[in-house]
Parts: sequence; C-alpha cells; structure tokens
Amino acid sequence: MAAILGVSAFYHDSAAALVVDGDIVAAAQEERFTRKKHDPGFPSLAIQHCLRQAGLKPSDLDYVVFYEKPLRKFERLLETYLAFAPQGFKSFAMAIPVWLKEKTHLPKVIRQSLGDSVKAPIVFTDHHESHAASAFFPSPFEEAAILTLDGVGEWNTTTYGIGRGNRIELTRQIQFPHSLGLLYSAVTYYCGFKVNSGEYKLMGLAPYGRPVYKDLILKHLIDLRHDGSFWLDMSYFNYCQGLTMTNSRFHDLFGAPPRNPESDIEQRHMDLAASIQAVTEDAMLAIGRQVHQETGMKKLVMAGGVALNCVANGRLLREGPFDDIWIQPAAGDAGGALGAALFAWYQLLENPRTPVKVDRQKGSYLGPRFQSTDVQKFLDGVGAKYHRASSENDLIDRVVSLLEQEKIVGWFQGRMEFGPRALGARSIIGDPRSPKMQANMNLKIKFRESFRPFAPIVLRDEAHKWFGIDPRHESPYMLLVAPVRDEHRMPVTDAQREIMKNDPDLRNRVNIPRSSIPAVTHVDYSARLQTVDDDRNPRLAGLLRAFGRRTGCPILVNTSFNVRGEPIVCTPEDAYRCFLGTEMDVLVLEDAILLKDDVAEKLDAATREKYLAQFQLD
Ligand SMILES: [Fe+2]
Repeated sequence: MAAILGVSAFYHDSAAALVVDGDIVAAAQEERFTRKKHDPGFPSLAIQHCLRQAGLKPSDLDYVVFYEKPLRKFERLLETYLAFAPQGFKSFAMAIPVWLKEKTHLPKVIRQSLGDSVKAPIVFTDHHESHAASAFFPSPFEEAAILTLDGVGEWNTTTYGIGRGNRIELTRQIQFPHSLGLLYSAVTYYCGFKVNSGEYKLMGLAPYGRPVYKDLILKHLIDLRHDGSFWLDMSYFNYCQGLTMTNSRFHDLFGAPPRNPESDIEQRHMDLAASIQAVTEDAMLAIGRQVHQETGMKKLVMAGGVALNCVANGRLLREGPFDDIWIQPAAGDAGGALGAALFAWYQLLENPRTPVKVDRQKGSYLGPRFQSTDVQKFLDGVGAKYHRASSENDLIDRVVSLLEQEKIVGWFQGRMEFGPRALGARSIIGDPRSPKMQANMNLKIKFRESFRPFAPIVLRDEAHKWFGIDPRHESPYMLLVAPVRDEHRMPVTDAQREIMKNDPDLRNRVNIPRSSIPAVTHVDYSARLQTVDDDRNPRLAGLLRAFGRRTGCPILVNTSFNVRGEPIVCTPEDAYRCFLGTEMDVLVLEDAILLKDDVAEKLDAATREKYLAQFQLD
C-alpha cells in the first residue's frame, strides 16, 4: 500500500489531497475549515480531513508531495526583480519575507505541521506538471492531449503535451511574464474586481458588452499568433515590478483609471469584459487547434485557472477539433494538491493506470460527510425543530413540493465538493421557471451584485433537449457553458429590448425573462451547465427526475451554499448558521428538513448584520 499526500499552499486556495493506491480518497480546500475565503495558509485542517477519511495517521504516509518547486519560483521572483530593479523593490520586499520564512523552509514547515512521527520523504513536483496530472490521470481517457493555462507557476503560464497510460509529457510551454491568466486578471483588476476571484464575475459581465476593445487589446496588449503562441507587451503592465496589475499606459489606452470596487459598473466595463473574453476564446481556440495538430489526439484534458473559463471551454468543445474534453473541476491551484499526489503515484512510482468510463474524480465529492445521526445530534443540541424524512422517496417528494412553491432550499448532502463550484452537495436550489427566483436568491440569500444569472443543474440524459450540448457530451463539473435551445426561448418586446440595451441597472436587464427557465438564462441565452447523473450523485439525480415528472422541467437552479464573501459551507453548523442568517426558506440537512416558518426565534437584524459582516466582500 502507498498513501500519498498532496499539498498546495502559500499562494491562494491552499488544499490537501490523499491518494491511496491510486484511489482519490479525499481532497479539500483549507478555506472550508478555517472559514477564510481563499485561505493561503498551510492546509493543516484539510490534511486532517484527508487522513481521517482514510483512517490513517500522519506516520502512515509514504510520500508527501508539494505541488510546485519553491526554489524555482523564488528564482523567478528574484530574476524578475533584477530585470526591473530598482523599480520592483516594493513588491519584491513584500514577497521575500514570506518566501524566506515559509516557502524555502517548506520541508520543515510540513514536518512541523504533521508531527515528528512522519518519516515520509517530501517530493516537489513542477506547478504545471501538477495541473497536467490533475487533468489527465483522473480523466476517463486512455490517451489525450493535455493543456494547462493559468496565471503563473514557477515560470510556465501555458503548457501542453500528451498523456498516455500512466505517463504525462509536457513538450511545449509559454513562460512568465507572458500569460493568458495574468492578462485576464489585469482586466479583472482594471474593471474593479478582485484578482484571483473576480475573474468569474468578469466572465459573467461579458454578455452585457460588445467586444469593441478586442482589436485594441490584440494590437497593443497581446500579440496572438496563428499557432496559439502569444506575447504580452509588458510596457502596459505592472505585475512584474509593482503591487498592481496595470500601469498608467494601460489606463491611458482605455481612457480612464481603474474602476473603484463597488462603484457603478459602466457600459465600458461590460465592453471590456466582452473584449477580453473574446480574446481569451480566440486564444484558447488557436491553442486548441495547435495542440490537436501537434499531438494528433482526439481528446483533450485541461487544468489551470484559465480552464475555469467555462464560456471558452464550451466554444472549444463545440467549435474546436477535439471529440471530447475533460476538465479538472479543481482547475485552480487547489487542484495542484491532487495532481501532485497523482503524479507521484503514476509517474514517479510507475503504477499502472486503468481509466474508467465515468472518470476517477468521484463527482469531486471528496470532502467531509456527516451522517444523519451527526446531523440530528447537532439539531437537537441547538433545539431546532425539524422533520426527518421516512425514506428516500419521502425526502424527495417533500423537497419537490417545496420547490414547486418557489421555496429557496439549502441542500446539504453527502461529501463536500473539491474545487470552487458547488455541485449539489453544498448547494442552494430553486425552481428555474420562476421569474422572480433570480432576484429573490440574489437579494435574500447572496446579498451580492445580481447581474449574474444562476447556473442550472439538469439531468444528464435530458440536457440536450434544453441546451445546445451534444447528447454524447456531459458537463458534470459545471465547466461548460451552452446556449438555451431556441424552442425554450421567449420573445422579447420592444420595450424590454430597450431595457436590455440601455438600462444602467443590470439587475433590470437580467430580470427580463429570456426563456421558460429565466433564473438560469443569461442575457445572451447562455447557461453554465452542470449535468447530473446517477453514477455521481444518485440522490440529486432522483430529485431532478421527480421535479421533472411533476413539472416537465428536469432542471433546478443551483448556487453555492454561502453568502457573499463566505467560503462554501462545510459542516451542518455552517449550513444552519447560513440558513438563519439569510432568508432561505428551507434547509435540508441529509434527511432532516427544516422550515424557516418553524424557526421560533427569528434572527434579529443586529445578529444577522454581525454574521454577514465577518466575511470580506469578494
Ligand atoms: Fe496554477
């Protein structure tokens, strides 16, 4: 037996993953336990979860694998500083103490955290190798082209190559500072959203804009070649030498300083979002074609933060040269922990690999689970009134009835998701047909900018009837965007068209019903799809089937179980707190059903404020 612990830490989204004899036993992000979003600290609690799940002690570990090479990264920081010295001193001086203290003494940090009994050797993999391993090894493919795209690892920002059997080989790379991820982050920053988390918002903003700045970006910021290679003109950026992403030359190019976070979003920000999105899609299609040509592979696997761009992924699958694409759901650096452990098992220890049809990611349900008895103990402890479903059918019947009454339901089931998206284990769900569902969920639960529609979960076998996705394809990890099919779209009146074009309040635009499932349809008719099947999540598939039987619509709205700025809930306690702190109507904790109407003591305004105030806006 070999137990391999993968660790990613000290940048953002620290995580741990445990692979035992090739089986992905557990994986989780540290933020879920510390309740600090994108927590970059050493993932002690995530490691504890992994070991507990496997019934192992730290001393049982055979290898500990760190997801990147700290000294190579240090070398990149140092060389970048030297290239820009003395300009870059401030950012260099800020990064160095962290590096000296934690990253260059990593083996010591890891041993201290795990305890003296740990004798396992500590191995370091390359950052993009970790991404690549996380994409290929769990995938259902015997062989595939591999493409990794992110901000930056040690030096690489883009790599590609081939995975075959139990080996991956990356043959091409593009290096820092030329980075598709950092370019996207620069525009994210310029539009007033947070780097490393606001990229997803920018993608959601894009459908409101027109890509009027696309040519300007291609002319000045990025030289995108036909073969998918690219160069950035660094005279517009500040991330090598400063503490910001962009500089005054960049701001002059677009005619204004960066937008202040939380200030009004103007049409030019939407146009910029549409423009950088269009550039990213062009780049990914070009790289995709090149990778296909060079490798001759029919399938593609992807990871790295840019692979979370589900709009580009959807286009690559529909318009690109590959028959099928599999994307690691924890595509960002958290997934590096999993990739690092898998790399050690297959590539370093040379163990055989047999792909399985569904994939080996287990629906990405790799976090902690709580038994019904744990849930009851907790609920009894806090004196909550609840109903315990007598059977699976009873549970599903009751929840379907509540959903039909347009109730907003907190759905807490089984093991927590690994990766940034809630995939039906820690989700808030609702009826997508309801015209007010989108506004209600945004205002009552998420307390966030509401220009983004929610994502649909749909039965896999029904997905192609509602969305433009080939019946051979699936999107189990919400990583593909597909258009709502014509027959489900709704005509828009002239007055509505006027609002959609010009209303400065984007909530008014997004609230105009575009289809028979308005809560999950964006203004351009696109939807961020998660397909649900009996292999990965039988209870959720059962719920969708029952809802479909009752309503003719096997689709639900799915959004992450949290409030704005809060990490997705992990424990029944987190979920209960979120239930009380918001206007969620129903909470389903495993087989216990709680109704807000039954909560005797309503949370007073001050307590709610306090709950919400502990999370920094993201
Ligand atoms: Fe990365």
